[in-house]
Amino acid sequence: MSGSCNGRVARRLLFLVPFLLGALSGCSVSEAYPGDLKYPPRADRIVVDKPTEQPTTTDLPGKLDQAVARIGVPADKGGVGGEAYDPDKVDVKHRTALQTQLDKVFGKPSAPRVNSEDEELVAKLKLDRNTLRQGSVHFRRHCLHCHGLTGDGRGPTGPWLNPHPRDYRQGVFKFISTEGSGAHKPRREDLLRTLHKGIDGTSMPSFAMESDEVLETLVSYVIHLSLRGQVEYNTLATLLANKNDESKLVDESIEGHVQAKLQAFLKEWGRADKPNTPSRYPYNDENRTAREDSIRRGYKLFTNPNGAASCIACHIDFGRQVPFRYDVWGTLVRPANLTAGMYRGGRRPIDLYWRIKGGIDPSGMPGATLEAKEGDPYWDVVNFVQALPYPLMLPEDVGKKIYPAFSYASGDRASAD
Ligand code: HEC
Ligand code: HEC
Repeated sequence: MSGSCNGRVARRLLFLVPFLLGALSGCSVSEAYPGDLKYPPRADRIVVDKPTEQPTTTDLPGKLDQAVARIGVPADKGGVGGEAYDPDKVDVKHRTALQTQLDKVFGKPSAPRVNSEDEELVAKLKLDRNTLRQGSVHFRRHCLHCHGLTGDGRGPTGPWLNPHPRDYRQGVFKFISTEGSGAHKPRREDLLRTLHKGIDGTSMPSFAMESDEVLETLVSYVIHLSLRGQVEYNTLATLLANKNDESKLVDESIEGHVQAKLQAFLKEWGRADKPNTPSRYPYNDENRTAREDSIRRGYKLFTNPNGAASCIACHIDFGRQVPFRYDVWGTLVRPANLTAGMYRGGRRPIDLYWRIKGGIDPSGMPGATLEAKEGDPYWDVVNFVQALPYPLMLPEDVGKKIYPAFSYASGDRASAD
């Protein structure tokens, strides 16, 4: 199948018989999902409340579902607490009706769609059929093996990676810049940035070699999978929380519920178009004292255990000694070691600004609400976080508290200036 489309053969053909170009474009058609393939119904557990106890072990390679299966089971029965539902407990009548509705609204992998009355919003979010079809072809080639057919993060490679590839079906993402703080949908630009840069320190690669056009179709397809997954998640969770009582669904029917939730989630995506906008970055290399003062203020905000920031409460010892905690997917996450200088969501000052102001909601990091009489306190924290991994970038009085073993007297400082 793809043998006839491989790069070497394609290049030769291109070189020798340019007029075959038209025929070659047929390759992308054969790379599409098979026409009879449908999105399978969700079978893995639905985590609705993450455990509050600290995890004592990490999940072993390849054992993602086994680890999640311990959620919602009491500790004395070998579980870890929290709450989770088993989709198998949805009765057959509802299961079949849900599958029919999801197929009707979202199509199949080779012909994905978003059937909504709000055509304007569907167009604004670039969820037209043509874009989605192209996106699904690229997704199949580049993303499927990690993110899975339904975007469940359970492709063949998924369970073996840590952190696990994103499961889009809860509709939440980590590295977003959307105005406000907390659980919002990402802006298109956020997903594009993730695809361009990859996610440092994880297995999520950069796709910067692909054209912007290709990346745009991938973003649309991720939104499609996320909408589909979230509608399914919400309908299953509503049925399971109410013991299959149909009257708890919107309009007391699967069809009504699927339509209502689709509109609600589409609107959330539509609203995610403005970023948190900072004040202009006021520091420069010439005025070292102003920057050092800012780092000192950032240090105070970061280390104040009772302040609005209280970063140190989670990033214990600046992240060098932090325990694991559960994220919304029921998998494990650790408050970043901020002395390592590794940032998953990007290392530009603006990336750090967005993380601090907006938080990383699915990982349990809240957005910080900071106020100051003068200046922009967010830049103070950004300046501190940026300098933190490098003792020589910190004012000596601050650096000595964080790196007591570091010798500021060795003269390195003079040469670094
Ligand atoms: C080798 C495995 C792998 C491949 C291939 C891969 N990803 Fe990922 N992806 C990951 C991992 C791992 C994460 C989660 C990292 C984390 O939680 O910090 C992730 C996260 C994401 C996120 C979530 C970002 C956020 O803000 O939460 C998106 C969107 C994404 N990937 C899209 C894609 C797309 C689209 C492709 C294909 C073009 C792709 N990925 C290919 C492993 C992969
Ligand atoms: C309730 C716990 C909690 C608090 C409070 C908290 N964080 Fe975090 N932080 C986390 C977790 C968990 C992560 C890892 C998120 C991930 O990788 O999914 C993280 C990651 C980060 C990152 C890395 C972002 C990246 O792109 O990889 C930075 C920077 C950060 N936190 C700064 C701060 C600052 C500054 C504060 C205070 C304003 C703060 N955090 C408060 C839990 C917290």
